[in-house]
Amino acid sequence: MTTKNFTRDEMETVQEILQTDTRAVPPVLKQESIKNLGTADIPREIFFSPEYHNLEVEKLWKKVWQWACREENIPNVGDYVVYDIADLSVIVVRSKADKIQAFYNSCLHRGTQLCVNEGHTLALQCPFHGWTWKLDGTLAHIPCRWDFEQVEDEAFRLPEIKVATWQGFVFINFDPDCESLESYLENLPEHFQQFALQERFTAVHVAKVMPANWKVALGANLEAYHVIATHPEGLKFLGDANSQYDIYGRHNRMILPFAVQSPHLGIPRDPQAPAKAAIEYQGISPAKVQIPEEMVPRAYAAEVTRQVVNQRLRVDCSAVSDTEMLDGISYFIFPNFMTFPGVGQPLQFLYRPYGANPDVCIMDVLILQPLPPGMTPPAAKTHWLTPEQNWSDAPELGGLGLVLDEDASNLLRLQKGLKASAKPGITLSNYQESRIRHFHQVLDKYLS
Ligand code: FES
Ligand SMILES: [Fe+2]
Repeated sequence: MTTKNFTRDEMETVQEILQTDTRAVPPVLKQESIKNLGTADIPREIFFSPEYHNLEVEKLWKKVWQWACREENIPNVGDYVVYDIADLSVIVVRSKADKIQAFYNSCLHRGTQLCVNEGHTLALQCPFHGWTWKLDGTLAHIPCRWDFEQVEDEAFRLPEIKVATWQGFVFINFDPDCESLESYLENLPEHFQQFALQERFTAVHVAKVMPANWKVALGANLEAYHVIATHPEGLKFLGDANSQYDIYGRHNRMILPFAVQSPHLGIPRDPQAPAKAAIEYQGISPAKVQIPEEMVPRAYAAEVTRQVVNQRLRVDCSAVSDTEMLDGISYFIFPNFMTFPGVGQPLQFLYRPYGANPDVCIMDVLILQPLPPGMTPPAAKTHWLTPEQNWSDAPELGGLGLVLDEDASNLLRLQKGLKASAKPGITLSNYQESRIRHFHQVLDKYLS
């Protein structure tokens, strides 16, 4: 794991900022949906208790719709992806050209996992004794069938799990009586009409087992409050404390503005500086940036992003708004999926408990790029990092790798500190950490 190395100047700036936050209370605190969340602490045991983990498996993971893969991961009949969550495992397979099915990943003979990772197959065959099922889950073959008098074909179909798709994402639900995915998503289909993520492709997929509970890792990305201490280099071009937070039924949203200066730094002396810093974050040398006097600097930064996307992918973004080109627009889909539908920051984060150990989780990071005209590039295969590797060891993540390493540098300390605390719960800010509070309240409802 990396630790940040700040220069002395940077450290002094951070110290100064940390002591001089004089902003007035923002009016958004009066929003009813936020006020109704209350101010209670969150008990710390829920982040490391094995009993709580077991409760989550029974009452949450076996009951909710959850994002398992993208449709472009399984474009052809016989393509499959294994989706693991806690000790549960699911095979998501394209069984017909227009049909995706999901099955419990466990052989009906003696229980061996039928598939691992992702791949292509003509049938689902167990590696132990060779029991075989067709892609639609019907029993196809048992070696020495005469020795299994008690086995009837119909009773030995692979048990199925519900599947539904939305915006190119494949969701699964273990609960046969669950509500439809459409109803589960509440107001999000309306919000996403303009985004059309089914017209994107997975350009990057990196995953790693992280040393913290899944809720700890998730919480690190539900707010921009940590930018000041964890990503101080971003203050030059991120409106961290000016971010907007919205609470919906089960889900929520944050909009983190880019190409503006953090309010912690006051008014920029050079009004073009935040836009220049945002452009530099995209890997463009500041020497090449000449912002015309007559142009609003933020609009110029958005235009540069349009040109970058056009050069890299030949995609025309002239009709895409500045906020979609620049800002971190992140929708949180309960319980563990964060999707950024903008074009400039097209990230997808997924957080999953790993096995039965509440102290670790799997984090998936995807970049969904717009489809180049007339092309369907293959989806990136999952690049698994070892626990010793850093996110910045995945070159396909570009500058994002370093940002993720900064976030990761807190996680082990957070997980350990939660166990070592003399205080029964964690304290959340009322606006900037409202998404975390909201998430815990929805989680509570499922578990009780
Ligand atoms: S355990 Fe699968 S065929 Fe024996
Ligand atoms: Fe972060």
